[in-house]
Amino acid sequence: MDKLLYKKNINEHLVLRENSLKDENRLQFHLMPNGGWLNDPNGLFSLSKINHIYYQYSPFTTKWGLKCWGHYTTKDWINYKEEEIFLFPDSIFDKDGAYSGSAFVENNEINFFYTGNIKYIDKDYDYILEGREQNTIKITSKDGFVYSDKKLILSNNDYPKNMSKHVRDPKIIKFENKYYMILGARTVDNQGCALIYISHDLDNFNYHMCIKSNENLGYMWECPDLFIQDNEWFLIFCPQFISNNIQNDKCAYLNLSLNLKEKTYSINSYNLLDYGFDFYAPQSYIDENSRRVLIGWMGMPDSKYLDVVENKNDWIHALSIPKEITIKNHKILQQPLKELNNLRDKKISLEECSEYKTFELNIFDIVDIDLQIGEISITFNNNLFSLDLSKCGMLREIKTIEIDKLKNLKILKDTTSIEIFINDGEFVLTNRCYNTNTIIKTNSKFKYSLFTLKKFNIQYYYEK
Ligand code: FRU
Repeated sequence: MDKLLYKKNINEHLVLRENSLKDENRLQFHLMPNGGWLNDPNGLFSLSKINHIYYQYSPFTTKWGLKCWGHYTTKDWINYKEEEIFLFPDSIFDKDGAYSGSAFVENNEINFFYTGNIKYIDKDYDYILEGREQNTIKITSKDGFVYSDKKLILSNNDYPKNMSKHVRDPKIIKFENKYYMILGARTVDNQGCALIYISHDLDNFNYHMCIKSNENLGYMWECPDLFIQDNEWFLIFCPQFISNNIQNDKCAYLNLSLNLKEKTYSINSYNLLDYGFDFYAPQSYIDENSRRVLIGWMGMPDSKYLDVVENKNDWIHALSIPKEITIKNHKILQQPLKELNNLRDKKISLEECSEYKTFELNIFDIVDIDLQIGEISITFNNNLFSLDLSKCGMLREIKTIEIDKLKNLKILKDTTSIEIFINDGEFVLTNRCYNTNTIIKTNSKFKYSLFTLKKFNIQYYYEK
């Protein structure tokens, strides 16, 4: 689909769009598709004080459709602008989907790398060992709006022979004056791994090395994000199918000892990045304040319930709030970007909360906790933290985390989501959540601050 075809069929999209914007369950401080389907955040970068947030977008359907890159911009994380669709699958290299990718900015030029998906339909394929092309494509831009011709950088034949046809989601880093591209992959033996390519010019890439684990960490690693922070290497990735348990690890990271020059590595630890039900395919970038900002897809391929309610209203899925990543004791900490404090409106008491749909609750000095927010139950005792969504009719049960000491909790409740930050972001749980009110009940004793929250202010691309 190219831009012309999209414009020709725009009325089809405008119907979805209008319905979706009327839905009272739309989130108030999260980014969503305005009609259609959204998944991974893509191409995050900031330049000239503007943060660019692209995302996997199907504008004509609320099902997994043909992927474009949608686009939002923001200067302050409160006011957003919906921009024109950025990238269409309009070339022979990406005709079945402009899949996920990232941005690398150098000398005021934005280099986007993404996966062009090609699916053969001439006969039956397993689409694992055969039947698809996964092209790594580069485009460059000066402003994040207009871009150069699409250039094919790597294709199936450039990936190692023991790879299946699942190799995608490029991310670029620069280290010791060389560029490295990280790609998520699945071997022919169904082992997830991250491939690393090396380049001197951002145009020619050669295979360098592969990172994988001796443990069972899934058959495919999607959306790898490799970075060094505080002199330690981290690899965030989404391991697919570690087991068939739906409460499975969905987004994780490795703390690595990595020597890119010598092509050696060892895995020091494996941790979950998020302990909730709905966090996938995150991407991080360094903003102009030198912070590492992380955004994820707040939705999961298995969000069956969201299909039921959101499809009806012609939109589905959202992005998580933006968070800042810091490192402590070899682990990743995540906290909401401090700009989100500007969403705070009124300071209220627990008793007053039921009158508001969205709030921020900060809890300190905790011993045990037993907290009900409508149908949602949050407890901590005997070193076990638990989030129970089983009464929300979401086809979801309980998530638990073993924690030595619960020092503080931050809860961000939007109309149909709840994000929980434990111990200054040591553990995070991201969840979509329907069928609940905001009546707060508790028998526990703690200190707290509670704020009602304002909405994001979004300037839409098509006037309503
Ligand atoms: C992750 C993912 C990526 C792929 C994209 C396609 O959710 O499957 O691996 O590039 O979505 O939309």
